[in-house]
Amino acid sequence: MQHAIEAQGLFKVFGRNPRGAVQKLRDGASRSDIASSGTAAVIDASFTVNPGEIFVIMGLSGSGKSTIIRMLNGLLEPTAGDVLVQGESIANASPSELRRIRRQSVSMVFQHFALLPHRTVIDNAAYALEIQGVGREERRARAMEILEKVGLGDRAEAMPDELSGGMRQRVGLARALTSGTDILLMDEAFSALDPLIRREMQEQLVELQQELGRTIVFITHDLNEAMFLGDRIAVMRDGRIVQNGTPEEILTDPANDYVAQFVQDVDRARVLTASSVMEPPQATTPVSAGVRGALKVMRDQQVGSVAVLENRIYLGIVTDREAIRAVKSGKSDLRALAHHAQPAVHPDDPLTDVVERSVESHIPVAVVDDRMRLMGVIPRVTLLAALGNVPTMTRENPVIDVPATVPESEMTLTIDAVESTEGSLR
Ligand SMILES: Nc1ncnc2c1ncn2[C@@H]1O[C@H](COP(=O)(O)OP(=O)(O)OP(=O)(O)O)[C@@H](O)[C@H]1O
Ligand SMILES: [Mg+2]
Repeated sequence: MQHAIEAQGLFKVFGRNPRGAVQKLRDGASRSDIASSGTAAVIDASFTVNPGEIFVIMGLSGSGKSTIIRMLNGLLEPTAGDVLVQGESIANASPSELRRIRRQSVSMVFQHFALLPHRTVIDNAAYALEIQGVGREERRARAMEILEKVGLGDRAEAMPDELSGGMRQRVGLARALTSGTDILLMDEAFSALDPLIRREMQEQLVELQQELGRTIVFITHDLNEAMFLGDRIAVMRDGRIVQNGTPEEILTDPANDYVAQFVQDVDRARVLTASSVMEPPQATTPVSAGVRGALKVMRDQQVGSVAVLENRIYLGIVTDREAIRAVKSGKSDLRALAHHAQPAVHPDDPLTDVVERSVESHIPVAVVDDRMRLMGVIPRVTLLAALGNVPTMTRENPVIDVPATVPESEMTLTIDAVESTEGSLR
């Protein structure tokens, strides 16, 4: 597979003796070591971007993000190293070849979209096509199609100053999408938006990307944004890429203390998926074992609930309390009990969905695949540990339901109490 973009040992030093500085940096000097001969904006950056992925470059202000992205489309010449865009070298390209690459392959979206104020929304969106020499009817038709996708179909004839900030941002995005380039470079494109609109734009970008399959390099200093958007994330510090990995890798296995500190405050619920925190289902029982069979499994395994399966298909989770009540009232059909269980989640669902289920009940949340096979369970303690970034060694924890007659404040039920209740049933 050919990479959409390949950065090979990129350096950018601003100053009097950039090449001399590169040599020192290659020998291990840091940004501050060479400060007297210039600013090392980017130091030895290598990475690849796959076609159709969102690759995020994240780092604090001044870490070198904008300098990298400007080298990717040849707006800045690297001091050393090269960039291949769909296999084509930028370092060896002539100015006219560079213009062609920018017109045909790579478009850029900036923080402030800089719309043309005296043109309508649709003419702004069609601007890149106009530059490319596409006729008016065709370019307006293509721009309209994209405007519909970003939710601005009904504002096509409006002027930019009649739009809200978020809408203007969408016009800028539409302009980049309309240009038809395979690669989109977005530098802090959503940073000027207020949080709610920003969230909306992030979701819309992910949807559009899935639909249109463009390759996106997205720059941000916001970790939550990086984690939400990125298929992969490169974390920068002082000109260097200090880690490059999937959001889950960066969250669960930070390369160093710097990254670990960075990811401390991330909204884990949006990044982690059910599959990354689920535990193997310990307590399961075939529906044919009946209610008593289910109780036996719970007692043997010292757990408060059990997953009911039929030919590996998940039917539901039954708690000890439900099972005991059923036995008391002479019911033995496990299927009927299991069907009252709460719905399960899919392995790819974000933890936010799991949290929703988890507040509804005490019992572990079941994780099932497309064919309703039980893949794992997420007990509440595991969920809380994952959200709080606390290492957990728990297996499925006993969950004991509160008898309706006893006020919760007086509850000191233990597994022994449950067992003695059970004993009296037999
Ligand atoms: N044209 C330039 N001349 C001199 N120094 C520059 C130039 N452009 C950038 N720098 C320096 O290079 C370093 C990296 O800048 P860059 O703009 O790439 O950072 P950034 O990560 O995009 O930061 P921000 O989040 O603030 O946009 C900074 O120290 C900056 O001052
Ligand atoms: Mg920048």
